[in-house]
Amino acid sequence: MPKSPFLEGNFAPVEHELAADDLPVRGELPRELAGTFVRNGPNPQFPPLGAYHWLDGDGMLHAVRLENGRASYRNRAVRTRAYELERRRGRALWTGVLERPQFDNPEGATKNTANQALVRHAGRLLALHDQGEPYEIALPELETLGVYSFGRRLRHPLTPHPKLDPRTGELFAFGYSPVAKPHAQYSVIAADGALAHTTAIELPIGVWMHDFAITERWAVFMNHPYTFDVRRFLRGEPIARFEPERGSHLGLMPRRGSGGDLRWFPIAPCFAYHVANAWEEGSEVVLDVIQRAAFDLAAEVEPGNAPPHPTRLWRWRIDLQRGSVREQELDDQNAELPSVNPARVGRRARYVFASRMRSDVRLPLAEGLLKYDLDRGCASQLHRFGPNRNGGEGVFVPRPGGSDEDDGWLLAFVHDESEGRSELLVADARDLTAPPIARVLLPQRVPYGFHGLWVPEDRV
Ligand SMILES: [Fe+2]
Repeated sequence: MPKSPFLEGNFAPVEHELAADDLPVRGELPRELAGTFVRNGPNPQFPPLGAYHWLDGDGMLHAVRLENGRASYRNRAVRTRAYELERRRGRALWTGVLERPQFDNPEGATKNTANQALVRHAGRLLALHDQGEPYEIALPELETLGVYSFGRRLRHPLTPHPKLDPRTGELFAFGYSPVAKPHAQYSVIAADGALAHTTAIELPIGVWMHDFAITERWAVFMNHPYTFDVRRFLRGEPIARFEPERGSHLGLMPRRGSGGDLRWFPIAPCFAYHVANAWEEGSEVVLDVIQRAAFDLAAEVEPGNAPPHPTRLWRWRIDLQRGSVREQELDDQNAELPSVNPARVGRRARYVFASRMRSDVRLPLAEGLLKYDLDRGCASQLHRFGPNRNGGEGVFVPRPGGSDEDDGWLLAFVHDESEGRSELLVADARDLTAPPIARVLLPQRVPYGFHGLWVPEDRV
């Protein structure tokens, strides 16, 4: 394979699909912790065509099922159309994000790897990717049931971060198109799973829009100037570029509104992959994200001993009366993959969970899990994975019957680089400084990956 840091060490793909029961557990798994932790991530099936970035690999799901204090593991590739086609031909058929898009590829210019995240709604588990339709997955075996298009009503890609309103059960989602107009579309899926509303969002130019937010009344969009321009492509330049001179903009639209209702608010140029949460306070909408000053995908594969841009917990306060936005860095630790208790999505949460990213390497590796207390000046707790141990996202699992917002656990895959072994970490979300409650030792390496999801046992 061509050299890429994302094909080495524990970024390298695994070859086997395994199932194993009664895994060794260090510590004790809480009996109430019953369900399945599933995490999505890249696992390239074939050597890449040209340069390889972490975002490019075919989706693979790694799942740990916990029941009665016991744990079992299974992993399975998502059988996307692209995965099956490449399998039949025996080689990669698409280039990745660091190469020129193949507008002449007879199989389509973009590859939907379904590799980024998962969402569960109206009884369905979906694997998601920035530029494609969702794939439906069945538990507990992780079979791919096929593309799920909401009864052929979905007319746009579905980005990896739809938002589920815990009170209404509605799912809010959008998708963007780098080149074709409209550059973004937005949909609301009713609690029963029916696609109820879609509207086009006109943007001056295609941009990378990975995440958004909801509040009780608003959908909140982020338009950052990582732009896609076919004219650059025709000149032989990379099609995507960070253009700070365009500035960044935050957009507010009523949750069931149309693109014409969108009101944009200019802010200083930056980039944010991920939203922690948003909520309303009087005439203000508050949006907490992980922000970086600039964005450059190619820089991530270059040698270096620091991330290309620090990533911080950041707040925007949109004043609807004045039409202005105040911004504030909430903390200066390198963080990513933020979340709140799912019951607080769209309302003010006290706690934000995130991963603390290493500052001494270029690669996006987490060295621990963070918990910010927004009621106490954003004071943070850190759960360190330990020397030579890296991981990814911590997924908050509420304790059944618990009432405190932080009553529950954080689950994350951690890899021990010295031992070459992976485990599922169960940390106490009430006190992240405490030692792990349990560590489940896994029967094979789990490559570093993207987003995970908890499915309670009664819904598996
Ligand atoms: Fe993401």
